Formats: sequence, structure tokens, C-alpha cells
Amino acid sequence: MAAPELTIRPVSSDDAPAIARMHRRCSLESVYRRYLTAVPALSPALQRRLQDLHLTLVATTGREVVALAHLATAPDEPTELAVLVEDAWQRRGVGTAMIEAALDRAEADGTTDLVAYTLPSSTAVHALLRGLRRGALRPVFRRTSDGLVTVTMTLPAARRGERLSA
Ligand SMILES: CC(C)(COP(=O)(O)OP(=O)(O)OC[C@H]1O[C@@H](n2cnc3c(N)ncnc32)[C@H](O)[C@@H]1OP(=O)(O)O)[C@@H](O)C(=O)NCCC(=O)NCCS
Repeated sequence: MAAPELTIRPVSSDDAPAIARMHRRCSLESVYRRYLTAVPALSPALQRRLQDLHLTLVATTGREVVALAHLATAPDEPTELAVLVEDAWQRRGVGTAMIEAALDRAEADGTTDLVAYTLPSSTAVHALLRGLRRGALRPVFRRTSDGLVTVTMTLPAARRGERLSA
């Protein structure tokens, strides 16, 4: 990973203050691209929901959280993949490392179908997704009637069954 001083691990309830600080350091543009809505700060309820998704990973340095990645499940829906890297840590390989770690967990859980909801102008995450698994994932981009670009990805079924006990 490009930033070896970072640790990527599952979120814990103790991370709540650091997650709030991270969101305050993010530009409104980054927050908008992640949540598809403009939120200057996370409400306590939204923050609890974010920590309570199927999988939330944090990237930390010292006491600070600098990136979040999520896998969110819903019945009969593909698993939603999302990521936010705070501005000062962008373009250092953190987003890729977070999503690759989330994909490892998804594979270990037997998940095959993933989706990311993005803005048409979110070219950074589009490039990131194209590069996952050294380009082998071949994500499919579709413009939806509500103006978003959904990115669907299929994990190889061959690795299903290699489940982690964690
Ligand atoms: C998209 C985002 C997660 C990328 O995180 P990151 O840590 O900067 O990404 P990486 O450093 O791993 O970059 C991986 C690749 O993505 C592309 N990329 C990343 N940032 C880019 C930018 N600003 N412009 C163009 N391409 C970019 C590049 O291809 C890059 O590879 P390279 O550096 O070798 O050229 C980060 O910019 C972010 O949090 N944006 C706001 C939230 C968002 O858009 N989330 C996605 C919603 S699901």
C-alpha cells in the first residue's frame, strides 16, 4: 500500500469521535460524492448506521481515521460497496487498499454481486474500480434514469468457499 503508516481494520465503537473528525476534515465535494447528498456533519444517528453496516473498515493513523469503506447488504439486492478517503489522504493508494480489503471480506463471505452508486462526474472512483484486482474485475457502468452511474462488479465464484472464520 502507498501509505504504510496506515492500519486498515474493522471499525469499533471507539472510532466514533475519530470518524466525526474525519468527516469535518473532508471537503463538501468529497462528502457529496460519497453520500450523494450534502451533509456538513454526520448526525449521531447516521454515524451509528454507518458503523452498523455489514462491514465497515477504517484506515487509521494514530488516533485519527482517514478513510472509511463499507459493504452494505439488503435483501435481494447486490451488496453495496462505498468508500470515502479524506482529501489530504487521496491519491496515495488508500482508496484502492480499502476496497481491495473489502473485496477480500466479501469473497470470504461468499458474496459475488456488488454495486457502487456514483455520480457521472466521479471519475476518480470509476478509475479506481477499473483498476481493482489488477483490472481483472471488469466493472460494468450504467447510467440510471435518476442521473447516477451504477457500477456492478462480480467476484469470481471460484474463490467462494474459501471462507474466513473472522
Ligand atoms: C474516489 C476515492 C475513494 C479515491 O481514493 P484514493 O485513495 O484517492 O484512490 P487511490 O489513490 O487508490 O487511486 C486509485 C486510482 O484511482 C484513480 N484516481 C484516484 N483519484 C483520482 C483523481 N483525483 N483524478 C483522477 N483519477 C483518480 C487513479 O486511476 C488512481 O490510480 P493512480 O494514482 O495510479 O493513477 C477518493 O477520491 C474519495 O474518497 N472521493 C470522494 C468520495 C467518493 O467519490 N466515493 C466513491 C463513492 S462509492
